[in-house]
Amino acid sequence: MDPIAQYLEEHREAFLDDLKAVLKIPSVSAQPDRRADVARCAEHIAERLKRLGMTRVEVFPTAGHPVVYAEWLGAKGAPTVLLYGHYDVQPVEPLELWHTPPFEPTLRDGKLYARGAVDDKGQVYMHLAAIEAHMKTAGKLPVNLKVVIEGEEEVGSLNLEIFLREHRKMLDADVIVVSDTGMLGPDQPALTYALRGILYGQIEVVGPSRDLHSGHFGGAVMNPANALCAIVAGLKDADQRITIPGFYDQVRTLTPADRQGFAETPFDEKGFMAESGAPVAVGEKGYTTLERTTARPTLDVNGMWSGYIGEGEKTVLPSFAAAKVSMRLVPDQDPNQLAALFEAHVKQLAPPGVHVKVAGLRGSAPFLTDPDHPMLEAARRALARVWSKPAVMVREGGSIPVMTTFQQTHVGLPSILVGFGLDDDQVHAPNEKFSLSSYYGGMRSVAYLYEELAKA
Ligand code: BES
Ligand code: MN
Ligand code: MN
Repeated sequence: MDPIAQYLEEHREAFLDDLKAVLKIPSVSAQPDRRADVARCAEHIAERLKRLGMTRVEVFPTAGHPVVYAEWLGAKGAPTVLLYGHYDVQPVEPLELWHTPPFEPTLRDGKLYARGAVDDKGQVYMHLAAIEAHMKTAGKLPVNLKVVIEGEEEVGSLNLEIFLREHRKMLDADVIVVSDTGMLGPDQPALTYALRGILYGQIEVVGPSRDLHSGHFGGAVMNPANALCAIVAGLKDADQRITIPGFYDQVRTLTPADRQGFAETPFDEKGFMAESGAPVAVGEKGYTTLERTTARPTLDVNGMWSGYIGEGEKTVLPSFAAAKVSMRLVPDQDPNQLAALFEAHVKQLAPPGVHVKVAGLRGSAPFLTDPDHPMLEAARRALARVWSKPAVMVREGGSIPVMTTFQQTHVGLPSILVGFGLDDDQVHAPNEKFSLSSYYGGMRSVAYLYEELAKA
């Protein structure tokens, strides 16, 4: 066993405790009452980075949540790696579905359960363990390293974009490394070369000035809940195609080679569908499940509310109805352009008798990078030293907004997205977990990645 592997092996318990400590901090970026916890989490990570021997560690305030920055630049002549991750997490509701409390990390069957376990604190802490292993065994890192851990990824990374532009010089690098994606199976490492973009907003329907007796007024006015359902129903057709005029105009057509690539990807569709818990696969006509979830755009309601939802009957016509809607975008769709098309189409679908508003529309562009970039060879070599199967190149359906920002601020820089999440990790859901096989395999993989990048 090499000294790195040995160090990581000998400190397994300590690395688990490290991760548990940060998972106890409820850094939910979306919820204003968690603001102090988010800030505390940034400080906690900064302290950990200081103990690693990074030469500069700073917590930068932003108009939103702080950015943690650290650097170690002692590898003369070696490339500079810009490591990106996020310490903010998604809301935990519904709380009652958690088997153990979300911010009390619990180990069960070789899996660590907590909000943020895999997305993304666990994956950030793989890197911190890898850095520690290099520092403690060799007294140095094989590459120069700049670390950016942000607190607003789960709410769209708006202020990070400003931070990147303001500190562009400080953030000069040769390659960007991110661990915030998944593997194709417990022993099937993957490198991600595409992510979907997103457009997110809220449809608000206002009818009568207050809730009305559904008998006395029923039949005389348009019900906002019914109106909202009509609008939502009109956004897709029976083939699961999105009906917004012009929505698909910029979508790149999948080439026969693309489609062959998808067909050959070792994607466990049965396992994926079983994991979803849905009875059958349903999606856009003419595409496979893997294509639908990674290379085709979507439109989904993420939540909706209106009227009386308590126990028993209440005969009432609600005065208001709303739905949160997200669209996942693929190359070369432009969220700004689609925002206008979406709003116009919603207004057009609105029945008479209600006021319809589209609020808070914002998004980020899809990400696509060269799957054959020579830098990725270093990642493949690193992964081959840990896992029995060679890494496969994949597109993922989720979004990491900053990846397209990097393409503008760091033009031409290669990005290595090497993540260790699994389909059953319950990301964004109750009982999120990180498998220890991923955590420990991941830290060894990224420790080797730094070595291999030094040779690249
Ligand atoms: N780590 C995920 C992105 C991801 C998910 C990549 C699944 C690959 C597979 C990230 O933390 C995330 O959840 N992003 C949000 C962004 C949004 C809130 C702007 C997402 O995709 O919903
Ligand atoms: Mn994430
Ligand atoms: Mn996430």
